[in-house]
Amino acid sequence: RPRIAVFASGTGSNFQALVDAFQAGPAQYEGDIVLLVCDKPQAYVVKRAEAAGVPVACFTPKSYLSREQYEEDVLLKLREERIDWIVLAGYMRLVTPVLLSAYGGRMLNIHPSLLPAFPGLNAVKQALDYGVCVTGVTVHLVDEGVDTGQVLAQRVVLVEKNDTEETLAARIHAAEHELYPAAVADVVAGKLSPSRL
Ligand code: GAR
Repeated sequence: RPRIAVFASGTGSNFQALVDAFQAGPAQYEGDIVLLVCDKPQAYVVKRAEAAGVPVACFTPKSYLSREQYEEDVLLKLREERIDWIVLAGYMRLVTPVLLSAYGGRMLNIHPSLLPAFPGLNAVKQALDYGVCVTGVTVHLVDEGVDTGQVLAQRVVLVEKNDTEETLAARIHAAEHELYPAAVADVVAGKLSPSRL
């Protein structure tokens, strides 16, 4: 079975959705989430992992001389745990060629907009500020760009008239929690073609 490491920096609601789906183990969830990699030791996602019995590897990037040296250490851990797939879930760092050369094509991300619209930080606010009527979420492969990798799955979220960043973000999160576990399961099962879940 594919061995999956989730990378997260924050609250971890997507981590939770992934763990809930894969641990419940319906037939289509052919894989195991065996590691949380976290770059923020105080993040709530660490508590979620402990509660779910998922081993945690915390790193403090600031204690390294470079992003590459930080990732070399992360890579050692991934090799030790024989990780097949990296799933980024609110991991708020750019990935360098160190991880990409080892896991290119086997690293997924979820982004809170319909890419290629609104890449980078604060995608929900970017969409509201722009005034779009439709936004959504995107699951994509990670490449060397910022949110530029191949799109694997998307879901639409309509912007409502009185939406604030909070209300829109809540519906975007709900869409992410449905889409991401299903998309990750598809991809690790070898169904890489773009899907409309
Ligand atoms: C999610 O909305 C995810 O799409 C976003 O961070 C949030 C993490 O929430 N990721 C990015 O913006 C990446 N550029 P969570 O910690 O509750 O899963």
